[in-house]
Order: sequence, then structure tokens, then C-alpha cells
Amino acid sequence: MMREGSSPMIHRADYTAPAYWIRSVDLAFDLDPAKTMVINRMRVERNIDVAPQPLRLHGEDLNLTRVLVNDASVSFRHEHGMLVIDSAQDLPAGEFTLEIRNTCAPEKNTQLSGLYTSASGFFTQCEAEGFRRITYFLDRPDVMAVYTVTLRATKAAYPVLLSNGNLLEQGDLDNGPNGPRHFAKWHDPFPKPSYLFALVAADLVVRQQQIRTRSGNDHLLQVYVKRGDLDKTEHAMNSLIASVIWDEARFKLPLDLERFMIVAVEDFNMGAMENKGLNIFNTKFVLASPATATDENYAGIESVVGHEYFHNWTGNRITCRDWFQLSLKEGLTVFRDQEFSMDMAGSASARAVKRIEDVRKLREVQFPEDAGPMAHPVRPDSYAEINNFYTPTVYEKGAEVVRMMHTLVGREGFANGMALYFERFDGQAVTCDDFAQAIADANPHSELARTLPQFERWYSQAGTPRLTARGRYDAPSRTYTLGVEQAGAPASHTTQEPFVIPFAIGLIGRDGRALPVQLEDEPADAPEAGKTDRLLVLTEARSFFTFVNVDVEPVPSLLRGFSAPVMLADGLDDADLLILLQHDTDPFTRWEAGQRLALNRLLAAARSNVPAELDTPFTEAMRSLLRHPALDAAFKDQVLTLPSESYLAEQLVPADPPRIHAVRQRMLAQMASALRVDWEWAFDAHQVSGPYSPDSLSAGKRSLANRALAMLCLDSVPRGDTVWPGRAYQRMNDATNMTDRLGALSALVYSHAPHAEPALHRFHELFRNEALVIDSWFKLQATAPEVDGKVFERAKQLLKHPDFSLRNPNRARSLLSGFCTNNPGAFHRLDAAGYVFWAEHVIELDAINPQLAARFARSLDRWNQLAEPYRSAAREAIVRVAAKPDLSGGVREIVTNALAL
Ligand code: BES
Ligand code: ZN
Repeated sequence: MMREGSSPMIHRADYTAPAYWIRSVDLAFDLDPAKTMVINRMRVERNIDVAPQPLRLHGEDLNLTRVLVNDASVSFRHEHGMLVIDSAQDLPAGEFTLEIRNTCAPEKNTQLSGLYTSASGFFTQCEAEGFRRITYFLDRPDVMAVYTVTLRATKAAYPVLLSNGNLLEQGDLDNGPNGPRHFAKWHDPFPKPSYLFALVAADLVVRQQQIRTRSGNDHLLQVYVKRGDLDKTEHAMNSLIASVIWDEARFKLPLDLERFMIVAVEDFNMGAMENKGLNIFNTKFVLASPATATDENYAGIESVVGHEYFHNWTGNRITCRDWFQLSLKEGLTVFRDQEFSMDMAGSASARAVKRIEDVRKLREVQFPEDAGPMAHPVRPDSYAEINNFYTPTVYEKGAEVVRMMHTLVGREGFANGMALYFERFDGQAVTCDDFAQAIADANPHSELARTLPQFERWYSQAGTPRLTARGRYDAPSRTYTLGVEQAGAPASHTTQEPFVIPFAIGLIGRDGRALPVQLEDEPADAPEAGKTDRLLVLTEARSFFTFVNVDVEPVPSLLRGFSAPVMLADGLDDADLLILLQHDTDPFTRWEAGQRLALNRLLAAARSNVPAELDTPFTEAMRSLLRHPALDAAFKDQVLTLPSESYLAEQLVPADPPRIHAVRQRMLAQMASALRVDWEWAFDAHQVSGPYSPDSLSAGKRSLANRALAMLCLDSVPRGDTVWPGRAYQRMNDATNMTDRLGALSALVYSHAPHAEPALHRFHELFRNEALVIDSWFKLQATAPEVDGKVFERAKQLLKHPDFSLRNPNRARSLLSGFCTNNPGAFHRLDAAGYVFWAEHVIELDAINPQLAARFARSLDRWNQLAEPYRSAAREAIVRVAAKPDLSGGVREIVTNALAL
């Protein structure tokens, strides 16, 4: 395996156009697990805008057998891991043919980047730089070529042969050493960058459906899975059909291929990949049946299928000029998949729940990133390993940046902006600036157009902006003045210039009434007059807004819908928050008020030494919310979910994770006990009968019932009361869907009920052949609340379980990230054994799969904000990893950055 001591830094400012273009590629593969032969014939052309220079091709872990230019041998050399052909610059202008022959070893490819084998066959993963592990190429996204691909393999072992585009030809070949062989020839008419290339050769079965779209065209949709999994593909197919319909309806973007394929593979580093016409998916985001998949899994499939499908336009038709522009496709496509899921959810309440989930994720993973050693702008300025930059910042914050544009120009304006973007750039490789400019140009009178250069600071400045808002009511003049200040993140190394911040607000009277929002100097007959919400746009470090005709002192409802990715200190007290929790018409700020009430109590408890009783106003507010006659179950469930331990740790620097865990666990126990009767009611009142359906209404009920069951077990176990744990065990055994079954199992495991062990055993017995369910079984045990080090002991034991393997990314993640990332209360230990465990596994995993290792390594990113003795011990573990001379470039970058603090 190739190992760099440390990879050189790549800088955005150093971008230059390629010295050559590759116009077309003819690839032929003789697929063999041990030694696959690749013939790569390219039509190449010098880029006349660039000074003549040798042709330098990327290549990694390849055996080169032959290089021909215009069918004649040429001399070549290797330099800095690249193949250099000096004579190419002396060729006459115009195209020439370059033929490369090489071999590679798919079965030895444990990194799962390039061409590799997994259970049933051959698969590829080329983004970002995997194509160079298949053949020599200009492996950069601004070099776009038309591909024709011939696959040859043993017919019995690999009956299905797929690549991008349309099938031109297929047939039988002579016998090979392993029996009769066959071939298939594919052609993709759309020029594409190499990262979108894919091939599959495997023993698969297919669910397929013909559809006719609005535009009257017929398309064949296919979902390929391994034999035996066909009955788990219905939801993925439905999600794909819904995605096609949605993109055409909302953005007028049609499916541009006759055939669109999804293939599921068990060993996959990421969630899924948008290869043109041939999406390759982690099985986790394809396979679902009521018996094996939870509501959350169903929702995940819908959103990932949508995401990869939407890339067909945002990513594939228009791609990135260079990898610094990654958010151009990822941030935009996450925004699109979020909107898709919201539109599919239907009701206003279900849309709000989706928005709350997305914000929760942003705060739990992106905010810490933006405050830690890997902080970077949405459009990074430099990187050592590009795979380390598929981050929450590029994805989730990038999506928020697109969402702010959407907010500033409106829904229709945004659709017009998208149309202009495609009119200008279809078929090209472009930048984030090009996108923002198109949205602004299509909306010349918008706040976005007015502030564009300043707005673009969202792409260039890292760190989470902090807002401070204070309001003052003046009864005599019936005015309310709101002052808002913005400041950059205190931790950010560079000074920050003010951002353009869309700030959606409303005013709520103390009697709960939504008040009309009229700005000073605004005529009473302005179009906004009488409305109860308003979009303010902050552009200065400090801004003031005066509202007139305000009858009573209001409670401000600020940052509605989470209109910008910022932290807000609004100075509201408990009484204000209780009013918002009861009455706010914006579901996001209403939910947020509940979170803040909980957060205030958790922070106070963590800071004091006396464990406080939970106060009645809080428990009563939670009770009335739980019992509210009009709110949806899913929304209630969101309000009743306490802020996560990682979110708490961000507000409590230096952080003591076991203490945070104990405080949060205690509050859960108090809520369990204070609302016991209400949880009993909630459990009974939210049973769903009839055949399983993953719709948001039923899923919301199941999720609230499962929370109730968890609370009831939590309350019962310490008292030795076995009624609810008994019921949970029974439910685990008898449930007719995985959501209820896993909900019951986790209620037992998370409350450390005596029934937990037999339940885990039984569950494993039932699902021993369902890999994705076994992943959940590992994860559940790795994330259980720690008691006396037992969870850590269990995690270590599970490493030796016959079902455990570091080679399967899903399995490795379930246990390792489950414990180190998702169980801070267990991972951070006074004896530092968790950190030793971390270091050992970063190193072990790095030798197998460096991408996965680098991502796992990030569970110690926030070491610097830990309280002692955790902080020093964590640092020592990172130093130990950094001391290894043969780390991959990816892990090297993570530990180097972590120690640079
Ligand atoms: N293009 C990515 C897949 C990818 C990521 C390839 C990193 C290579 C390196 C794909 O579109 C993607 O973003 N997938 C996400 C899921 C998505 C729903 C956010 C993933 O794989 O996690
Ligand atoms: Zn993506």
C-alpha cells in the first residue's frame, strides 16, 4: 500500500487549468479479483490556453504494462507518483491517441477506493481520487470525457455487468480458466469527470420499473441487490420514482437518461455515490423491510436516494472545477434533498420536524467542527487529503448557505436562479461563485443581489457567527426596539467581517397572541402590513430595528425556522421561553424554547455541585406539551428530546463528559418519574395498528411511544419494578416491525434492565443473517449509558465477537464510532483506557482503510476543550498516533491539525 509520510498541502489559490484535455475514453476490463487488466485508450488534446508542457497523469497502486501514443511506443517516466510523457508537448496541435495498459488487484484493495471486490463481485468508488487507482488519467473534475466501457468476466460468477450510460452490446466469449466468459459494452453520451465513472460486475438480481415522465419520455429504473434481498427494494424504488417526479415538478429538471440504475453493495465507505446513471449505494441506504428496517432507516433511504438522484443535475450536468468547490454540488444537493424530504413529509408540522432534525444535526456535528482543529470555510482554502473535506461544514453548513439564498430571493426567485445556472453552465465544471452569481443575477432586485460580495463571506470565513439580540419596549410610544449584534467565533484565528444574515422574526404578546410586525417608517398599507412575521436582513456588526404600533410588551421570537447557521443569545428568561413554548406560531422557535428551558437547567446542574430537583414549571410545561390536543406526536417527541451530550459539551468548556452524562441522565430520570402517568398515557395513546407504513404521521407516533417506553423502563428499573421492563421484553419479542422491536430493545439496554441480556441474545438469534440489523445490535451496545465501566468492557468484548470485522465499514463504524463518538460518557475515562482503545484502533484501521480511519480519528478532535485529566490524556493518545511514521496522509492530517492547537 502506498504511504506518504505527509501529503503536500494543496491550495485553492494555486488552481491552474489542465495542460491537456481528454475528450473521450475507451476502457476495456478483463475482470479478475487477483489481477484485472485495463486497456485505456484516450483521445487527448493539448489545452492551447496553457504553455506547452509534458503530459502528467495520475496513477496509484497500478502496474503499468504499456504506453502508446498514436499506436507507437513512447518513452515515459515516473515522477512524484505521476506518469510523465515528455514527448506529448512536441506533438502537432490537434488530438492524439494515448493508450495505456495496466493491471490492478481488486481483491487486495481494502481501502474501497478504486476497483475492489465485495461479497458478490466487483465494484468501484472513484470520488474523489479513486479513478487513478484503476488506470492512469487526468484525475481532476475539470477534465470531462465521453466514456465507452467494455467489461469482460466469468459469466457464472458475474452474470451482471454494468457501467455508466446505455448498454450498446452484450454477448458470450470463449472459456476462461474459470469457465465461460461474457462481455458487455456501455456508452455514456454525457461528458463526465473521472470521479463519476463506475462499473459493477456481480451476481445480482434486479427490481425494475418503467416510468413515463411529465415530458413524455420513457425511462427504465433499476435497483440491483444481491440474491435474497429483492423483497427489500420496494422503498428504494418508490423513493427513486418520487425523486424523479419531484425534481421535474419543483425545478423542471428531468431525468436525462434512458436507464437509471442503483446498485447496493455491502462494503462501502460512504452512504452512496452519484456515478452518472449508475449510483452505487451502501446497502444501509437501499434495503428495507418492515421487519428489518426502522422508520429512521426508511427516512434515510428516501433522503439518500433523493440526494444521489438530484446530483444528476447538481454535480453531474454541472460539476466542480476543483475539489475546493465541493460544496457547489454537496451543499446544494443536501439543500435539495432536505427540501425533497420536507415536501414528501407533507404537513406543516412534519416539515418543521424535518427542519428541527436538520438543525439538531448541524449543531451537533458542524458547530463543534467549526470551533475545533478541523474548522474550515464552506469553500476550503487548502487541504492535504481531499477525503478529509467531505465534512459537515461543506455539506450541512453549505446547505444552510444555499438555504439563506433561497430565503433571500424567495422560492420562485430561487427556482429562476437555478434555471439561469443551468442555462449558463450546463456541461461545465464551475465554482461556488458562479452559482451564487447566477442566483443573484436572476433576482436583480433582491437582498442577495444587493449584498452579493458580502454574502459570499459565508463561503470564505470559517467559524459560527454569534448573535446577541436585546429588545426594549416603550409603552408610551408603543414601540419595540430590537438591537442585534454579530461577532465572529471567538476561537477563529482570523478576524471576521460581518455576514449577511437573514433573520426571521415575530413578536408574541404575553397573552400568546401573534402581534402584527410593522417597522418604523413603513406605511400602514405596505404589502407586509398586518403580517405577524418578518424577514430582517442583518449586514452590519450592529443593527437596530424599531417596530411601531405594538400594543403590549412582546416576547420576541427570533431566528425563526433557523434562518441562518448562527448561535443566538437572545437574553430571554424562563418566563419568556415558557410563553414561546406554549404559543409561538413558528414551530422551530417553539421547539427551541423548550430546548432552551432544558439547556438552562442542564447547564446550571452541571456547573453546581448540588444535584437540583427539576422544578415544577418545567415539568408542567413538558406535561402540557406532551398532552397537547393539537400537536403532532413527532413534534412532541422533538420537544421532549433533551439536547445531546455533545451539544452540552460545547457550552461547558472545559467539559467533563462523564459529568455531563450524569447530569443529563439524572434529568431524564426526573422527567421519567415526574411524568410517569403521562408516559403511560403516551405509550397507550400512540400505538399504531394495521400494516406497517413509514409515513411521518405513523412514524411520529411510534417514536413517541418508544420514548415513553424508554422513560417508563428508566423509571422502573432502579425501583426494581419489572412491569414495564417485562412489557418491553414482550414487545421486543412480538413486535411486527423493527422500529418497535429496536425501540423496545433499546429501552431495556439503555435502562440496564435485567431483561436486557436475554433480549440482546434473542434479538441476535432472530437477525443473525441480517447484516444491517446486526450493525444496530453492535451500535446499541456501544452507545448504552455507562455504569461502572461495564459498557466499555462490553465494547471491548464485542471486538472479539465472531460477527465483528474491521473490514466492513458499517460494522466498524457501529462499534468504534458508536463508542468513541456517540458515547462520550463512556469513552472519556479517568484511567484514559478509552483513549488507548481509540489510538489502537485508529492505527489498526489505518492499515486497512485509511479513509475510514481518518474519519474515526476525528472523535478526539475536541480534546482541547476537555477538563483535566481528560485533556492531557487525550492529547497523549493523539501524540502516540502521530508518532507512527507510516500513517496514511489522511490520518496524518487529522492528528497534525489536532495537535496544532
Ligand atoms: N458524492 C458523495 C459520496 C462521496 C463522499 C464520495 C465522499 C466520495 C467521498 C455523495 O453524494 C454523498 O454526499 N453521500 C452522502 C450521503 C448524502 C445523503 C449526504 C454520504 O455518502 O454520506
Ligand atoms: Zn452528495
